Amino acid sequence: MKILLASKIDTGALEILSQRHDVVSGVGETEAALKNLIRDREALIFRSGVNITAGIMACAPDLQLLIRAGSGLDNVDLDYLRNHDLKLVRIPQPGARAVAELAFGMMLALSRQILVADQLLRKGTWAKHQLRGHLLVNKQLGIVGLGNIGTLLGQMGLAWGMQVLGCVEHPSPERAAQFEAKGLHLTDLNTVLSTADYLCVCVPLKTTTSGLIGHDELAMVKPGSFVLNMARGGIIDEAALSEALRQGRLAGAALDVHQTEGENQISPLADLPNVVLTPHIGAMTIDSQREIGRRIIDIMDDFDPAEQTPGG
Ligand code: MLT
Repeated sequence: MKILLASKIDTGALEILSQRHDVVSGVGETEAALKNLIRDREALIFRSGVNITAGIMACAPDLQLLIRAGSGLDNVDLDYLRNHDLKLVRIPQPGARAVAELAFGMMLALSRQILVADQLLRKGTWAKHQLRGHLLVNKQLGIVGLGNIGTLLGQMGLAWGMQVLGCVEHPSPERAAQFEAKGLHLTDLNTVLSTADYLCVCVPLKTTTSGLIGHDELAMVKPGSFVLNMARGGIIDEAALSEALRQGRLAGAALDVHQTEGENQISPLADLPNVVLTPHIGAMTIDSQREIGRRIIDIMDDFDPAEQTPGG
């Protein structure tokens, strides 16, 4: 098939894909360039960091298949997909574990001030008695969004002896029972906000979650708590978060995702020592990307254009 690759994928997978298909790279290209490159393409592979607009897809009369090499669908025009004969396949699982593990790493880094300790020691400061941290055991982990990532994170929390509370957009007694069977207690957003020692946001970005954690919600968070955003920039209001941290209401924060992402973007939280910032690396483990690459190859091998039905 004729494929347009709009984001980087595992190099081994790309090699195999290029042997079996006609692959053109549009990695790092502008929207105008993508509109040009996609003209004769039948499949499009993308991750975060590129906006798959209706305008781009409208330039591809032969386009049939989109592969989201990961989870989030906030960067693709879903209305366009629904109204056209296009199949979208997501590959959320391999990255979910990587994001959950990073979230856990963030909690440990914040609790034990690992980054601060490292920076001080590199300058020769032996701050042993100033760097008193917190244990995770017996603390409350509050998870906003118990999807793939949130559920894995919750299970990791349980293994560390934390109590885990979470909320979902569409709760039901059946879902509550399913989570309960995994040791995760389902409750409402306000309870999660007001009881968590570690509040971790794991919901996808969509109209109902954009700005979900703003000034009022952060005011409900228990003083001295840590706040983490592992989902998408724009779900937590960074200005409100910055204010809560500067007022000393929150003990710290960790963000893997940001309101503005990319080269030369400086976070409004960058000057705070009790904040850990990473450049949207949640799913960036070699293992996860390799597995995503393998699945891309399988999806392409199994795809039969003849089997596609309108709206499929
Ligand atoms: C995802 O949605 O899968 C992650 O944010 C990783 C990414 O695509 O960059």
